[in-house]
Amino acid sequence: MVKRVAVLTSGGDAPGMNACLRAIVRSSLNQGLEVFAIREGYKGLIEDNIFQMQRHSVSDIINRGGTIIGTARLKEFVNLEVQKKAVEILHSHGIDALIAIGGDGTYKGALALHKLGIHTISIPGTIDNDIASTDYSIGFDTALNTIIECVDKLRDTSTSHQRCSVIEVMGHRCGDLAAYAGIACGAEITLINEKLVNRSEVIEDLKRQKSEGKRHAMVIVAEKITNVEEFAHEIEREVGFETRSEVLGHMQRGGVPSAFDRVLASRLGDYAVSLLAQDISGVCLGTVNNKLVYTPVEEALKMERHNSIKFLEVAHRLA
Ligand code: F6P
Repeated sequence: MVKRVAVLTSGGDAPGMNACLRAIVRSSLNQGLEVFAIREGYKGLIEDNIFQMQRHSVSDIINRGGTIIGTARLKEFVNLEVQKKAVEILHSHGIDALIAIGGDGTYKGALALHKLGIHTISIPGTIDNDIASTDYSIGFDTALNTIIECVDKLRDTSTSHQRCSVIEVMGHRCGDLAAYAGIACGAEITLINEKLVNRSEVIEDLKRQKSEGKRHAMVIVAEKITNVEEFAHEIEREVGFETRSEVLGHMQRGGVPSAFDRVLASRLGDYAVSLLAQDISGVCLGTVNNKLVYTPVEEALKMERHNSIKFLEVAHRLA
C-alpha cells in the first residue's frame, strides 16, 4: 500500500494547477498519507528538490494562477538512466507514488516511472486541451476566457476604425482554444491546424464578406499556422481592410483560474488520491460528460482528438 506520495507540475503552467496541488495535499493527508512536493517538475526530481507538505502549505493558493511549486521541461527525461535516477531519488525518500500534473510530455514521464515500479497517476493540466482522454484539461477554460476578454477589447477598437484584426492564439497542435474562441467571439474567420485552409481562400472569403457589407473583421489564427504579421499585410493589400495583427502569447497562460478550472482541478486531485488508495497506477484522469474517468496512460497517448473540427464548423456557420 502507498504510504508516501509526491506531486509535481511539469510542462507549460496552467491556471488551476495550484487548486489541484491543494486538493492532492489535503486529500492525501485526510487518507493518512504523507505528501511531498517536487519543485520544477522532472528536473527538480532528478535534482532531489523535494519537500514535505502540510495542510497549511497549500493555504491561500486555490485562487492563484501559475504553479507555486514551479514547472520545467526536461528533454533528458526520455533517457532510461535519467528515469532510473529519478526512481532512486524517490526511493531514498521512501516515496512510492507520484502524481504528475501536465500535458502529454508529463504523461510520458509518468508512464516511464510506472514501468519502473513507481505508482503513478497523471492529471491533465494544460491550456491547450489536447489530451484526448478527457473533455477538458485544467487551465483551458481560464485561457479561453482570457482570449475572449482580449478579443472583445480588440473588437471595440477594430469596429470603431473599420479595421481587420488578425489574432494569434496558443494551442500547440490543438485547435480547441482557437475554435472555441472563434465561436465565443463571433470571429469572421477562424483558422486551426486540424483543417488547414490556404491564405488565398481566406482572402477570397474576406473579400466576399466585405462586399456584403462587413465593415470590420476578426480573424483568429491558432499558433504555428502562419506568420500573422505578414498575413495582416496581405489582407490589407488584397482585401482593402486596414489591418492589425496581435500575438496574444503567454498572457493566455497566466491569471486567476476560473471557477470551472478550480472545480475541475479540485475534483481531479481528490480523485487521484482515491485511486492510489485502490492501488491503481499507470493511468491518467479526466472527465467525460462531467463524470470522473481514468484511462491507462499508454492508451491515452495513442488516442486522437477530433473535437476542434466540430467547433470550427459551428464558428464558420455563424460567422
Ligand atoms: O502547452 C502549452 C503552451 O502554452 C502551448 O500552447 C505553446 O505552444 C507552448 O506551451 C509555449 O511554450 P513555452 O513555455 O516554451 O513558450
